[in-house]
Amino acid sequence: MSTISFSPSSHTWLLTTPHTSYGLQLDATDAPCHLHWGVPLTLGQVEALPRTYLPRRADSFSGRRVPEELAVDGADRYGTAGLQVRFADGTRALEWAYLRHEITEDEQGASLTLRMRDRHYPLAISLHYRVHHDSDVIERHLTLEHSGDGEAVEVLRADSAGWVLPERSDYRIGHVVGGWAAETQSRRGGLPWGETQFTSRRGITSHQANPWVMLDAGDADEQHGQVWSAALAWSGSWRITVQRDTENRVRMTGGFGHDGVSWRLEPGEIFETPVFAGLYNRGGFGATSRAWHDYILRHVLPHPQDVRPVLYNSWEATGFDLDEAGQRKLAALAATLGVELFVMDDGWFGGRTSETAGLGDWTPNPERFPEGLSPLIEEVHRLGMAFGLWVEPEMVNPDSDLYRAHPDWVLHFPNRRRTELRNQLVLNFARPDVARWAHGWLDRLVAEHGIDFLKWDMNRTFSEAGWPEHGTDGQADRLWIDHVRNVYAIIDRLRTDHPNLRIEGCTGGGGRVDLGMLRRVDQVWPSDNTDALDRLTIQDGFTRLYPARVMSAWVTDSPNPVTGRSVPLRFRCHAAMAGVMAVGGSLTEWNAEELQELAEQVERYKEIRDTVQLGTRHRLTEPSDSDGLTAVQYMSVNETETVVFAWRLSRPIDRKPIRIRLVASDPRSLYRDRESGREYEGALLIEFGLPLELAPHDYASTLTILDRVIDSATP
Ligand code: GLA
Repeated sequence: MSTISFSPSSHTWLLTTPHTSYGLQLDATDAPCHLHWGVPLTLGQVEALPRTYLPRRADSFSGRRVPEELAVDGADRYGTAGLQVRFADGTRALEWAYLRHEITEDEQGASLTLRMRDRHYPLAISLHYRVHHDSDVIERHLTLEHSGDGEAVEVLRADSAGWVLPERSDYRIGHVVGGWAAETQSRRGGLPWGETQFTSRRGITSHQANPWVMLDAGDADEQHGQVWSAALAWSGSWRITVQRDTENRVRMTGGFGHDGVSWRLEPGEIFETPVFAGLYNRGGFGATSRAWHDYILRHVLPHPQDVRPVLYNSWEATGFDLDEAGQRKLAALAATLGVELFVMDDGWFGGRTSETAGLGDWTPNPERFPEGLSPLIEEVHRLGMAFGLWVEPEMVNPDSDLYRAHPDWVLHFPNRRRTELRNQLVLNFARPDVARWAHGWLDRLVAEHGIDFLKWDMNRTFSEAGWPEHGTDGQADRLWIDHVRNVYAIIDRLRTDHPNLRIEGCTGGGGRVDLGMLRRVDQVWPSDNTDALDRLTIQDGFTRLYPARVMSAWVTDSPNPVTGRSVPLRFRCHAAMAGVMAVGGSLTEWNAEELQELAEQVERYKEIRDTVQLGTRHRLTEPSDSDGLTAVQYMSVNETETVVFAWRLSRPIDRKPIRIRLVASDPRSLYRDRESGREYEGALLIEFGLPLELAPHDYASTLTILDRVIDSATP
């Protein structure tokens, strides 16, 4: 159960989640201040906590040290401001005044809204908190309202929330870094003193960083220790700043947008920020990841219980060189492998025979599909598969009918070049006419062809982000936020109108993976790099926050088209089976033996996919482990099926048998290997490990499925 309680005498609020507490209080100046985020405490205990943040010595240089729930700009505050505004007379400092609060409870959880305002100017500020009965994740966001009728208020920064951590001496920070074809590389290191900023200014979440952080006091490991983490639900530019001061006080503030971009709030207008969710967990990094996975399954994904189908995607097989006959051949082969969803990728429309032309012209290419898409779709259905299609709605090639008709529809500034990336420009989705056009053709396409699945791609970052129509009235900057909002709105509407439609989010790989996108897509493409070895690292970073059930993973050709590396098929399959397994190879070039092996692995995957997609995921090694061994364990929801994958990069020097200690097993149960029939006692699996039969060569891998033999080992 989660609850929210309030003490009127001290103006203290306590949010209680199943395993944590979160307390806040108004100070003498009405500033909402943080008291506690951690182990469960009562309202009385939180009220009585010593105010550790009060100045230790009075000096005229340190400034305010009050840990506000949202650090505003003004007075003697010198940290990063989460809320910065400029009023019409030039005043920038903000002063809090408390109005009231609202607590509501429902079947799912409870919500708190703190209604605040500026002490003088017409700005209402509401801090929103939401707790769920079945999760320790606390969702927070902010709304601002221009409550007057005078001039606009310029919002320079509106973070969703600030999170304050308790004083500890040795904070570390975990996050991911990356780039195209190398997304979600997990990093953890000492938290610098100063202000550490994680950000995207690219208009998308980005390949370079992902909007979440995990902090620990230097002593957490995979299975133990306190971890404080936060993740932002936004798919455009964003910023999270983590500040550590000389006295080891740590606070973070995060939200959408980046510096220099503002929003002119008009009288009566309400401005709502995305959710910046936070989680405190005492079970180390492993339990923290699992708590996020669980939250995403319960409260973020649109169809969490749907088991994701095994799909085939034609991109790596054909590139832009596709036509109906070629797709039919691939579909026929895919069907023999046990594939359930056939997805045709880029190149089916307009003059799109290379990346230089045709984007924006969303009608089937008449030379490649003389009778339109229907014959292929019917054939795919006849083969017993669902049909999916690649689209990239937010983009246009200058060499396209769309651009020739609407050169003003793209992001651009007057008197500036239009920077092309991958020969394309970004359509200004903030424009209502552009958003209407995009929704119109997508809706028709899905309806006319009964399309089951869209791969929604987005293949470049923003540049020259101007909107000349609003160049002088101060509203042009809205495009950064409204672009994302309109992408969300179009997807939401498509889903409502076509309830069976499923969507994969893709952004040249994993450039737009975040809690905002996951609220409206069923799975995401983590990277254009399908090399199985690189994928192990990418998947490790990806699953630090996001669950395996949204992680598309194709088995592709060897040597790999991106890295040139040759990796055995079994290893490639095992890497893909640890997520949402799919196939993306040039199947017409595979021999009968390879196709047979792949079909067997697909069948195997179907046996275990409920456990991989819906169960819990446990890292058994760190990617940096010696021996180049990576292992993960999945446990089914009812805890009867255990799935263990192990991959080893290179042949070991010695021949000693390898064992991997399992973590999620029940020490009193007996487990039986489904293939060999060998039995293992849970206690021994935990203490001494599962023996792994890894072949003595490079790129060896194993998949072990253990069934719990109920009660056998109960003393
Ligand atoms: C992006 C995607 C790929 C593929 C191509 C098509 O790079 O990530 O999977 O769809 O676009 O142009």
